[in-house]
Amino acid sequence: MPSPTVRLQRAAPAGRDPITTTPAILPLTPDRTAEVEHLLDRAFGPDRRTRTAYKVRGDVAPVAGLSFMAVDEGAVDGGVLVGSIQCWPVALVDDHGTAHPLVMVGPIAVAPERQQDGIGRRLTTAALDAAAAHGLDAALMLIGDPEYYGRFFDFTADRTAGWRLPGPVERRRLLARGPAVPDAAGVLGPALRLAA
Ligand SMILES: CC(C)(COP(=O)(O)OP(=O)(O)OC[C@H]1O[C@@H](n2cnc3c(N)ncnc32)[C@H](O)[C@@H]1OP(=O)(O)O)[C@@H](O)C(=O)NCCC(=O)NCCS
Repeated sequence: MPSPTVRLQRAAPAGRDPITTTPAILPLTPDRTAEVEHLLDRAFGPDRRTRTAYKVRGDVAPVAGLSFMAVDEGAVDGGVLVGSIQCWPVALVDDHGTAHPLVMVGPIAVAPERQQDGIGRRLTTAALDAAAAHGLDAALMLIGDPEYYGRFFDFTADRTAGWRLPGPVERRRLLARGPAVPDAAGVLGPALRLAA
């Protein structure tokens, strides 16, 4: 019976070490910003900033404490960044003018050569656990595939039908989770900060 480490070994180009380990999930630090941007370009394509999700979150800082990275630790100093997740403060301003704060989860990205190995699930779990620990998990939303985020994390489009976004969105991919998710008509956009 091979050891778990041996089982996880992957083929590597001649002369290079194989990837032998499960990556560590660590808090994302500002010094990794350039690597995250490069990873996002690879996972989503260089035109990613035109996506509706970027317009929803606007130009504000991510929510502190809810961003994580997956790092293949090894020969390279600081390890190789192979996944990341960040979360953003957003709000639905309903048609009566009431603002409902939410945490926007994502983008979640895993390096293409490391996908389908549980890293996305581990990153998402880390962010959701941190949101719970910070008392910020009552109203979460994201734009993503329900076949993934519904199946593993119970996000649904049940309460988002009335939300208006600053760009096109497939309604089935506009997902939310938590008891405080507003089931209301209104406009979703950036929030400067979140009240815990
Ligand atoms: C989507 C993404 C984050 C998933 O991470 P991952 O590490 O590759 O996936 P995991 O190993 O956690 O999960 C694998 C399982 O989820 C399924 N899965 C993965 N992506 C899926 C998707 N987009 N839709 C449906 N199912 C998906 C796989 O089929 C697999 O199922 P199985 O266990 O039954 O075989 C990753 O593929 C990625 O970075 N994609 C490009 C960027 C993106 O679309 N991000 C999400 C929007 S914010």
